[in-house]
Amino acid sequence: MSESEWDKQFAALQSLQQQFSQEIETCSRRQDVEKVRINFLSKKSVLNQSFSLLSKAPVEIRPKLGNLLNQLRTEFSEQYKEKIAYFTELEKKKEDIDITLPGVVPLRGSRHPLTQTLDEIKEIFTNMGFSVEEGPEIENDYYNFEALNLPPDHPAREMHDTFYLPNDLLLRTHTSPVQIRVMEANQPPIRMIAPGRCYRKDTPDASHYPFFHQVEGLCVDEGISFADLKGVISIFAKKMFGSDVKTRFRPSFFPFTEPSAEYDFSCIICKGKGCKTCKGTGWLEISGAGMVDPEVFLFVNYDSEKYTGYAFGMGVERIAMLKFGINDIRYFFENDIRFLAQF
Ligand code: PHE
Repeated sequence: MSESEWDKQFAALQSLQQQFSQEIETCSRRQDVEKVRINFLSKKSVLNQSFSLLSKAPVEIRPKLGNLLNQLRTEFSEQYKEKIAYFTELEKKKEDIDITLPGVVPLRGSRHPLTQTLDEIKEIFTNMGFSVEEGPEIENDYYNFEALNLPPDHPAREMHDTFYLPNDLLLRTHTSPVQIRVMEANQPPIRMIAPGRCYRKDTPDASHYPFFHQVEGLCVDEGISFADLKGVISIFAKKMFGSDVKTRFRPSFFPFTEPSAEYDFSCIICKGKGCKTCKGTGWLEISGAGMVDPEVFLFVNYDSEKYTGYAFGMGVERIAMLKFGINDIRYFFENDIRFLAQF
């Protein structure tokens, strides 16, 4: 071979290097890498065949040629190994992460059904001009009973199975003590609701729980009558459950109201025809209400000749159970995500 032919041989080997780099780079699968190996590194490959040139090469060229051939062989096999390692790693990752599985949907929180109900109740009353007041859950005997015209030993106290605490304190059995606190601190006119948690020593069953929520309502001004009470309760019933819901009042007794009543809504399930929810009566008992007893006004120094007022209670759980069709009060407090996620 002439000198120029040897030059060509060198050039060919250089372009072999370029070719190899290009091909190994574009491999997208392990099989492609294998093909590149066969083409460039096997016995029959151009590179290996070129080693036979060494014996033919003149002594001045031989070392240079030998170096180049060895360098190419090392380079090719290293790049080959790297690429194979890359695919091995990739396959391992694929085993760990099954990309065909559906993605994990993150759990989203939602407001508790009681909170939703309470928010709705608040909205309805604030739209009618009622303020929202709060009182303590740990009360004393005076606010929970005495100032509400329930002196010690009054038989009506027995309706409230009270949790007593040391130092004459107790867990409030209703939200009515907030009436007293608000009237003590303010002069009429008063138009307020007081939502909050109450406690009674009840054994849990489908409709009882040792704690529950009430919304107290109180309105005091000159010339307030029972008709105002009926109007407000009736508007509430329609706003909460629909414009066809009727309201009725039945005579009852509470020491802090006179006259007193229990009020019912026409059954929202059967529309008053009679069903399991309303026990066939067509009516749902909601809570108590009445005109504020003048005795109560004495405790807060209101002039009962000048002012009259109405008060009402409301069970939040009862309203929420009707609103969402829940048949057991205990669901509200079990924090079972399967229950809560439905609202
Ligand atoms: N506090 C009464 C109860 O818990 C309900 C009520 C409130 C009755 C206001 C009349 C007036 O049963």
